[in-house]
Amino acid sequence: MISRETIENIISAVRIEEVIGDFISLRRRGVNLLGLCPFHNEKTPSFTVSPAKGIYKCFGCGKAGNGVGFIMEHEHLTYPEALRYLAKKYQIEIDEEEQTPEQLQEISEKESLFNLNEFARKYFSSALFNTEEGKAVGLAYFREREIREDIIKKFQLGFSPDKWSAFAEHAIMEGYKKEILLKTGLATEKDGKLYDRFHSRVVFPIHSASGRTIGFGGRILTSDKNRPKYVNSPESEIYNKSKTLYGIYFARTAIAQKDNCLLVEGYTDVISLHQSGIENVVASSGTSLTTDQVRMIQRYTSNITILYDGDPAGIKASFRGIDMVLEQGMNVRIVLFPDNEDPDSYARKHHPLETEKFISSNAVNFISFKTKLLLEETKNDPVKKAGLIKDIVASISLIPDAITRTLFIRECADMMMVPEQVLVNELNKIRRNRLNKELNAQGGVQDIPAPDVIAPPQSKVEADTSSAESQEKEIMRLLLLYGTDIVHIEQTDENNYKVKVPVMVADYMVHDIRGDELEFSNTVYAAIFEEYRSGIDLDQVPERSFFLGHEEKEIAYAAVDLIFTPYELSQNWLKHNVMIDMEEEKLLVRLDYSLLSFKARKIDLLIGELQKKLHGNDSAEDVKIIQTRFKELKAKSVQIHGKLNRIVIR
Ligand code: UTP
Ligand code: MN
Repeated sequence: MISRETIENIISAVRIEEVIGDFISLRRRGVNLLGLCPFHNEKTPSFTVSPAKGIYKCFGCGKAGNGVGFIMEHEHLTYPEALRYLAKKYQIEIDEEEQTPEQLQEISEKESLFNLNEFARKYFSSALFNTEEGKAVGLAYFREREIREDIIKKFQLGFSPDKWSAFAEHAIMEGYKKEILLKTGLATEKDGKLYDRFHSRVVFPIHSASGRTIGFGGRILTSDKNRPKYVNSPESEIYNKSKTLYGIYFARTAIAQKDNCLLVEGYTDVISLHQSGIENVVASSGTSLTTDQVRMIQRYTSNITILYDGDPAGIKASFRGIDMVLEQGMNVRIVLFPDNEDPDSYARKHHPLETEKFISSNAVNFISFKTKLLLEETKNDPVKKAGLIKDIVASISLIPDAITRTLFIRECADMMMVPEQVLVNELNKIRRNRLNKELNAQGGVQDIPAPDVIAPPQSKVEADTSSAESQEKEIMRLLLLYGTDIVHIEQTDENNYKVKVPVMVADYMVHDIRGDELEFSNTVYAAIFEEYRSGIDLDQVPERSFFLGHEEKEIAYAAVDLIFTPYELSQNWLKHNVMIDMEEEKLLVRLDYSLLSFKARKIDLLIGELQKKLHGNDSAEDVKIIQTRFKELKAKSVQIHGKLNRIVIR
């Protein structure tokens, strides 16, 4: 039991930004701090921490609470466990009674697994430093590997003696249950007898992100080929391999600070790099990277650098895993170590600064790394090269951000010496196919109303004169409904003849809006507009279905909304009782009307802002500038409203 007084001491010591800052990187936003929510998968931060109020709230998933609540939620701890965690962090004494065997039994099962692991960790550590065998064999091994004593202590490395069940017997004697020994995997059972899993090995404790020991790895000390070089704890209630990164506890601060996470193969690589002062490093330990592990890294940074040793075959085998990382919106870079070197051996042979420089100057982005590696194999074989293009573009197509995709397409086109358009076409084909598949899986898009049937407004909503929301909405709806249709615009050619030029609706609208440098205040609309804009630049206007199945949920939801909900016709349209049909002439009128309404509203809002400034400003110079701008805008407003009024709606 923790006394009420101690609980109060703990709670008043807690700085919520420090508690949460141990797990995720937070950026200041006004009086609050903002970060990526650790409780759900998100790409734009909606997790808000208020240091003044001592609380957090995620506006994405709704989770909220104070520092104790955060630790309970995040570390899956009970209330007293969370208090103990915080007491430790803030060095507040809790008078804890020695645990009797009865009390040991009462603690929850998970807690008893943690307890035994902690007991084992201390046992292995003591065996390493305080026994003759440990010193002669274990410490000698680490010394031979040139691991310094401070690093051994930091990573809590240990030694398990060369006896079949020295640890298990000791643990049983101390009151730990056989069942728990088996569940943690520290011992195995054969013919009713217990055997130490790690006997006669050096031991690497595996820590959770909060520093608790959840498992172990043990390395053999001889070159006996009949025994495995490494053995690891089995999975248990507290150790899930696909959700664990070796070294994360020691690396997370550095990862957030450096805004980059290095990924290596195993224990020794992590430890050697730390010894060289490179601390933003974790290992996925044997398995290829999992989505859960990527999300864990994503709490601290969106940059990941994978350090590879060795052969192209092994590297190629990992490409599929890296595609998954790209899909999560992470930037992936690759460092290839020279022949026969891994990060551990390299770090041991070189000065720490050299190692750091080697990594930073050899890191190349994943896409060009992959392109280059595969290009070498396909050299002059056109069939293989076509396959390569598909392969690379498939990777690029997974990147959620349109601008990043465009940049990589450009870079690959250069490297492969093919026209950019070839890659763009392939990219769009892949994205369209994927989208169609997704849409089919969701039941298809057959529910989209025919464009000429627009339902009347559900209710008469007061027009909101403080924003341009409804004008922006109308622009969006037109883009989505008719974006890829062709209209013919009247133009004057060089001989002064009037000619009709075919233009895509999206092109026409985007051009017009960009010409006036107007922006959307609604951020989702701005994102949709940006997709059209970059699509047009690449000569590939996105289809409506692209937005309906967009990977960013907000965009998909907005697109569905825009197309499915009843049309909010402006007063003029209502008065004339217009039904929208696809006749080109009417469509053109409607486009112009919407564009002008959008501009008129935006300009009137600007004028309103300037008016406010004029009233509250006393600097004579500023007043002049504002007045000039005011007059300009007024003139423009009059002109646009004039045009608007001249539009005849039939
Ligand atoms: P290494 O084979 O290089 O291990 O694997 P090592 O201990 O450095 O051995 P030597 O001294 O070079 O021969 C590199 C990493 O891969 C993981 C370990 O984490 C190791 O640090 N590994 C390797 C395993 O988990 N299991 C294995 O069987 C082998
Ligand atoms: Mn090695």
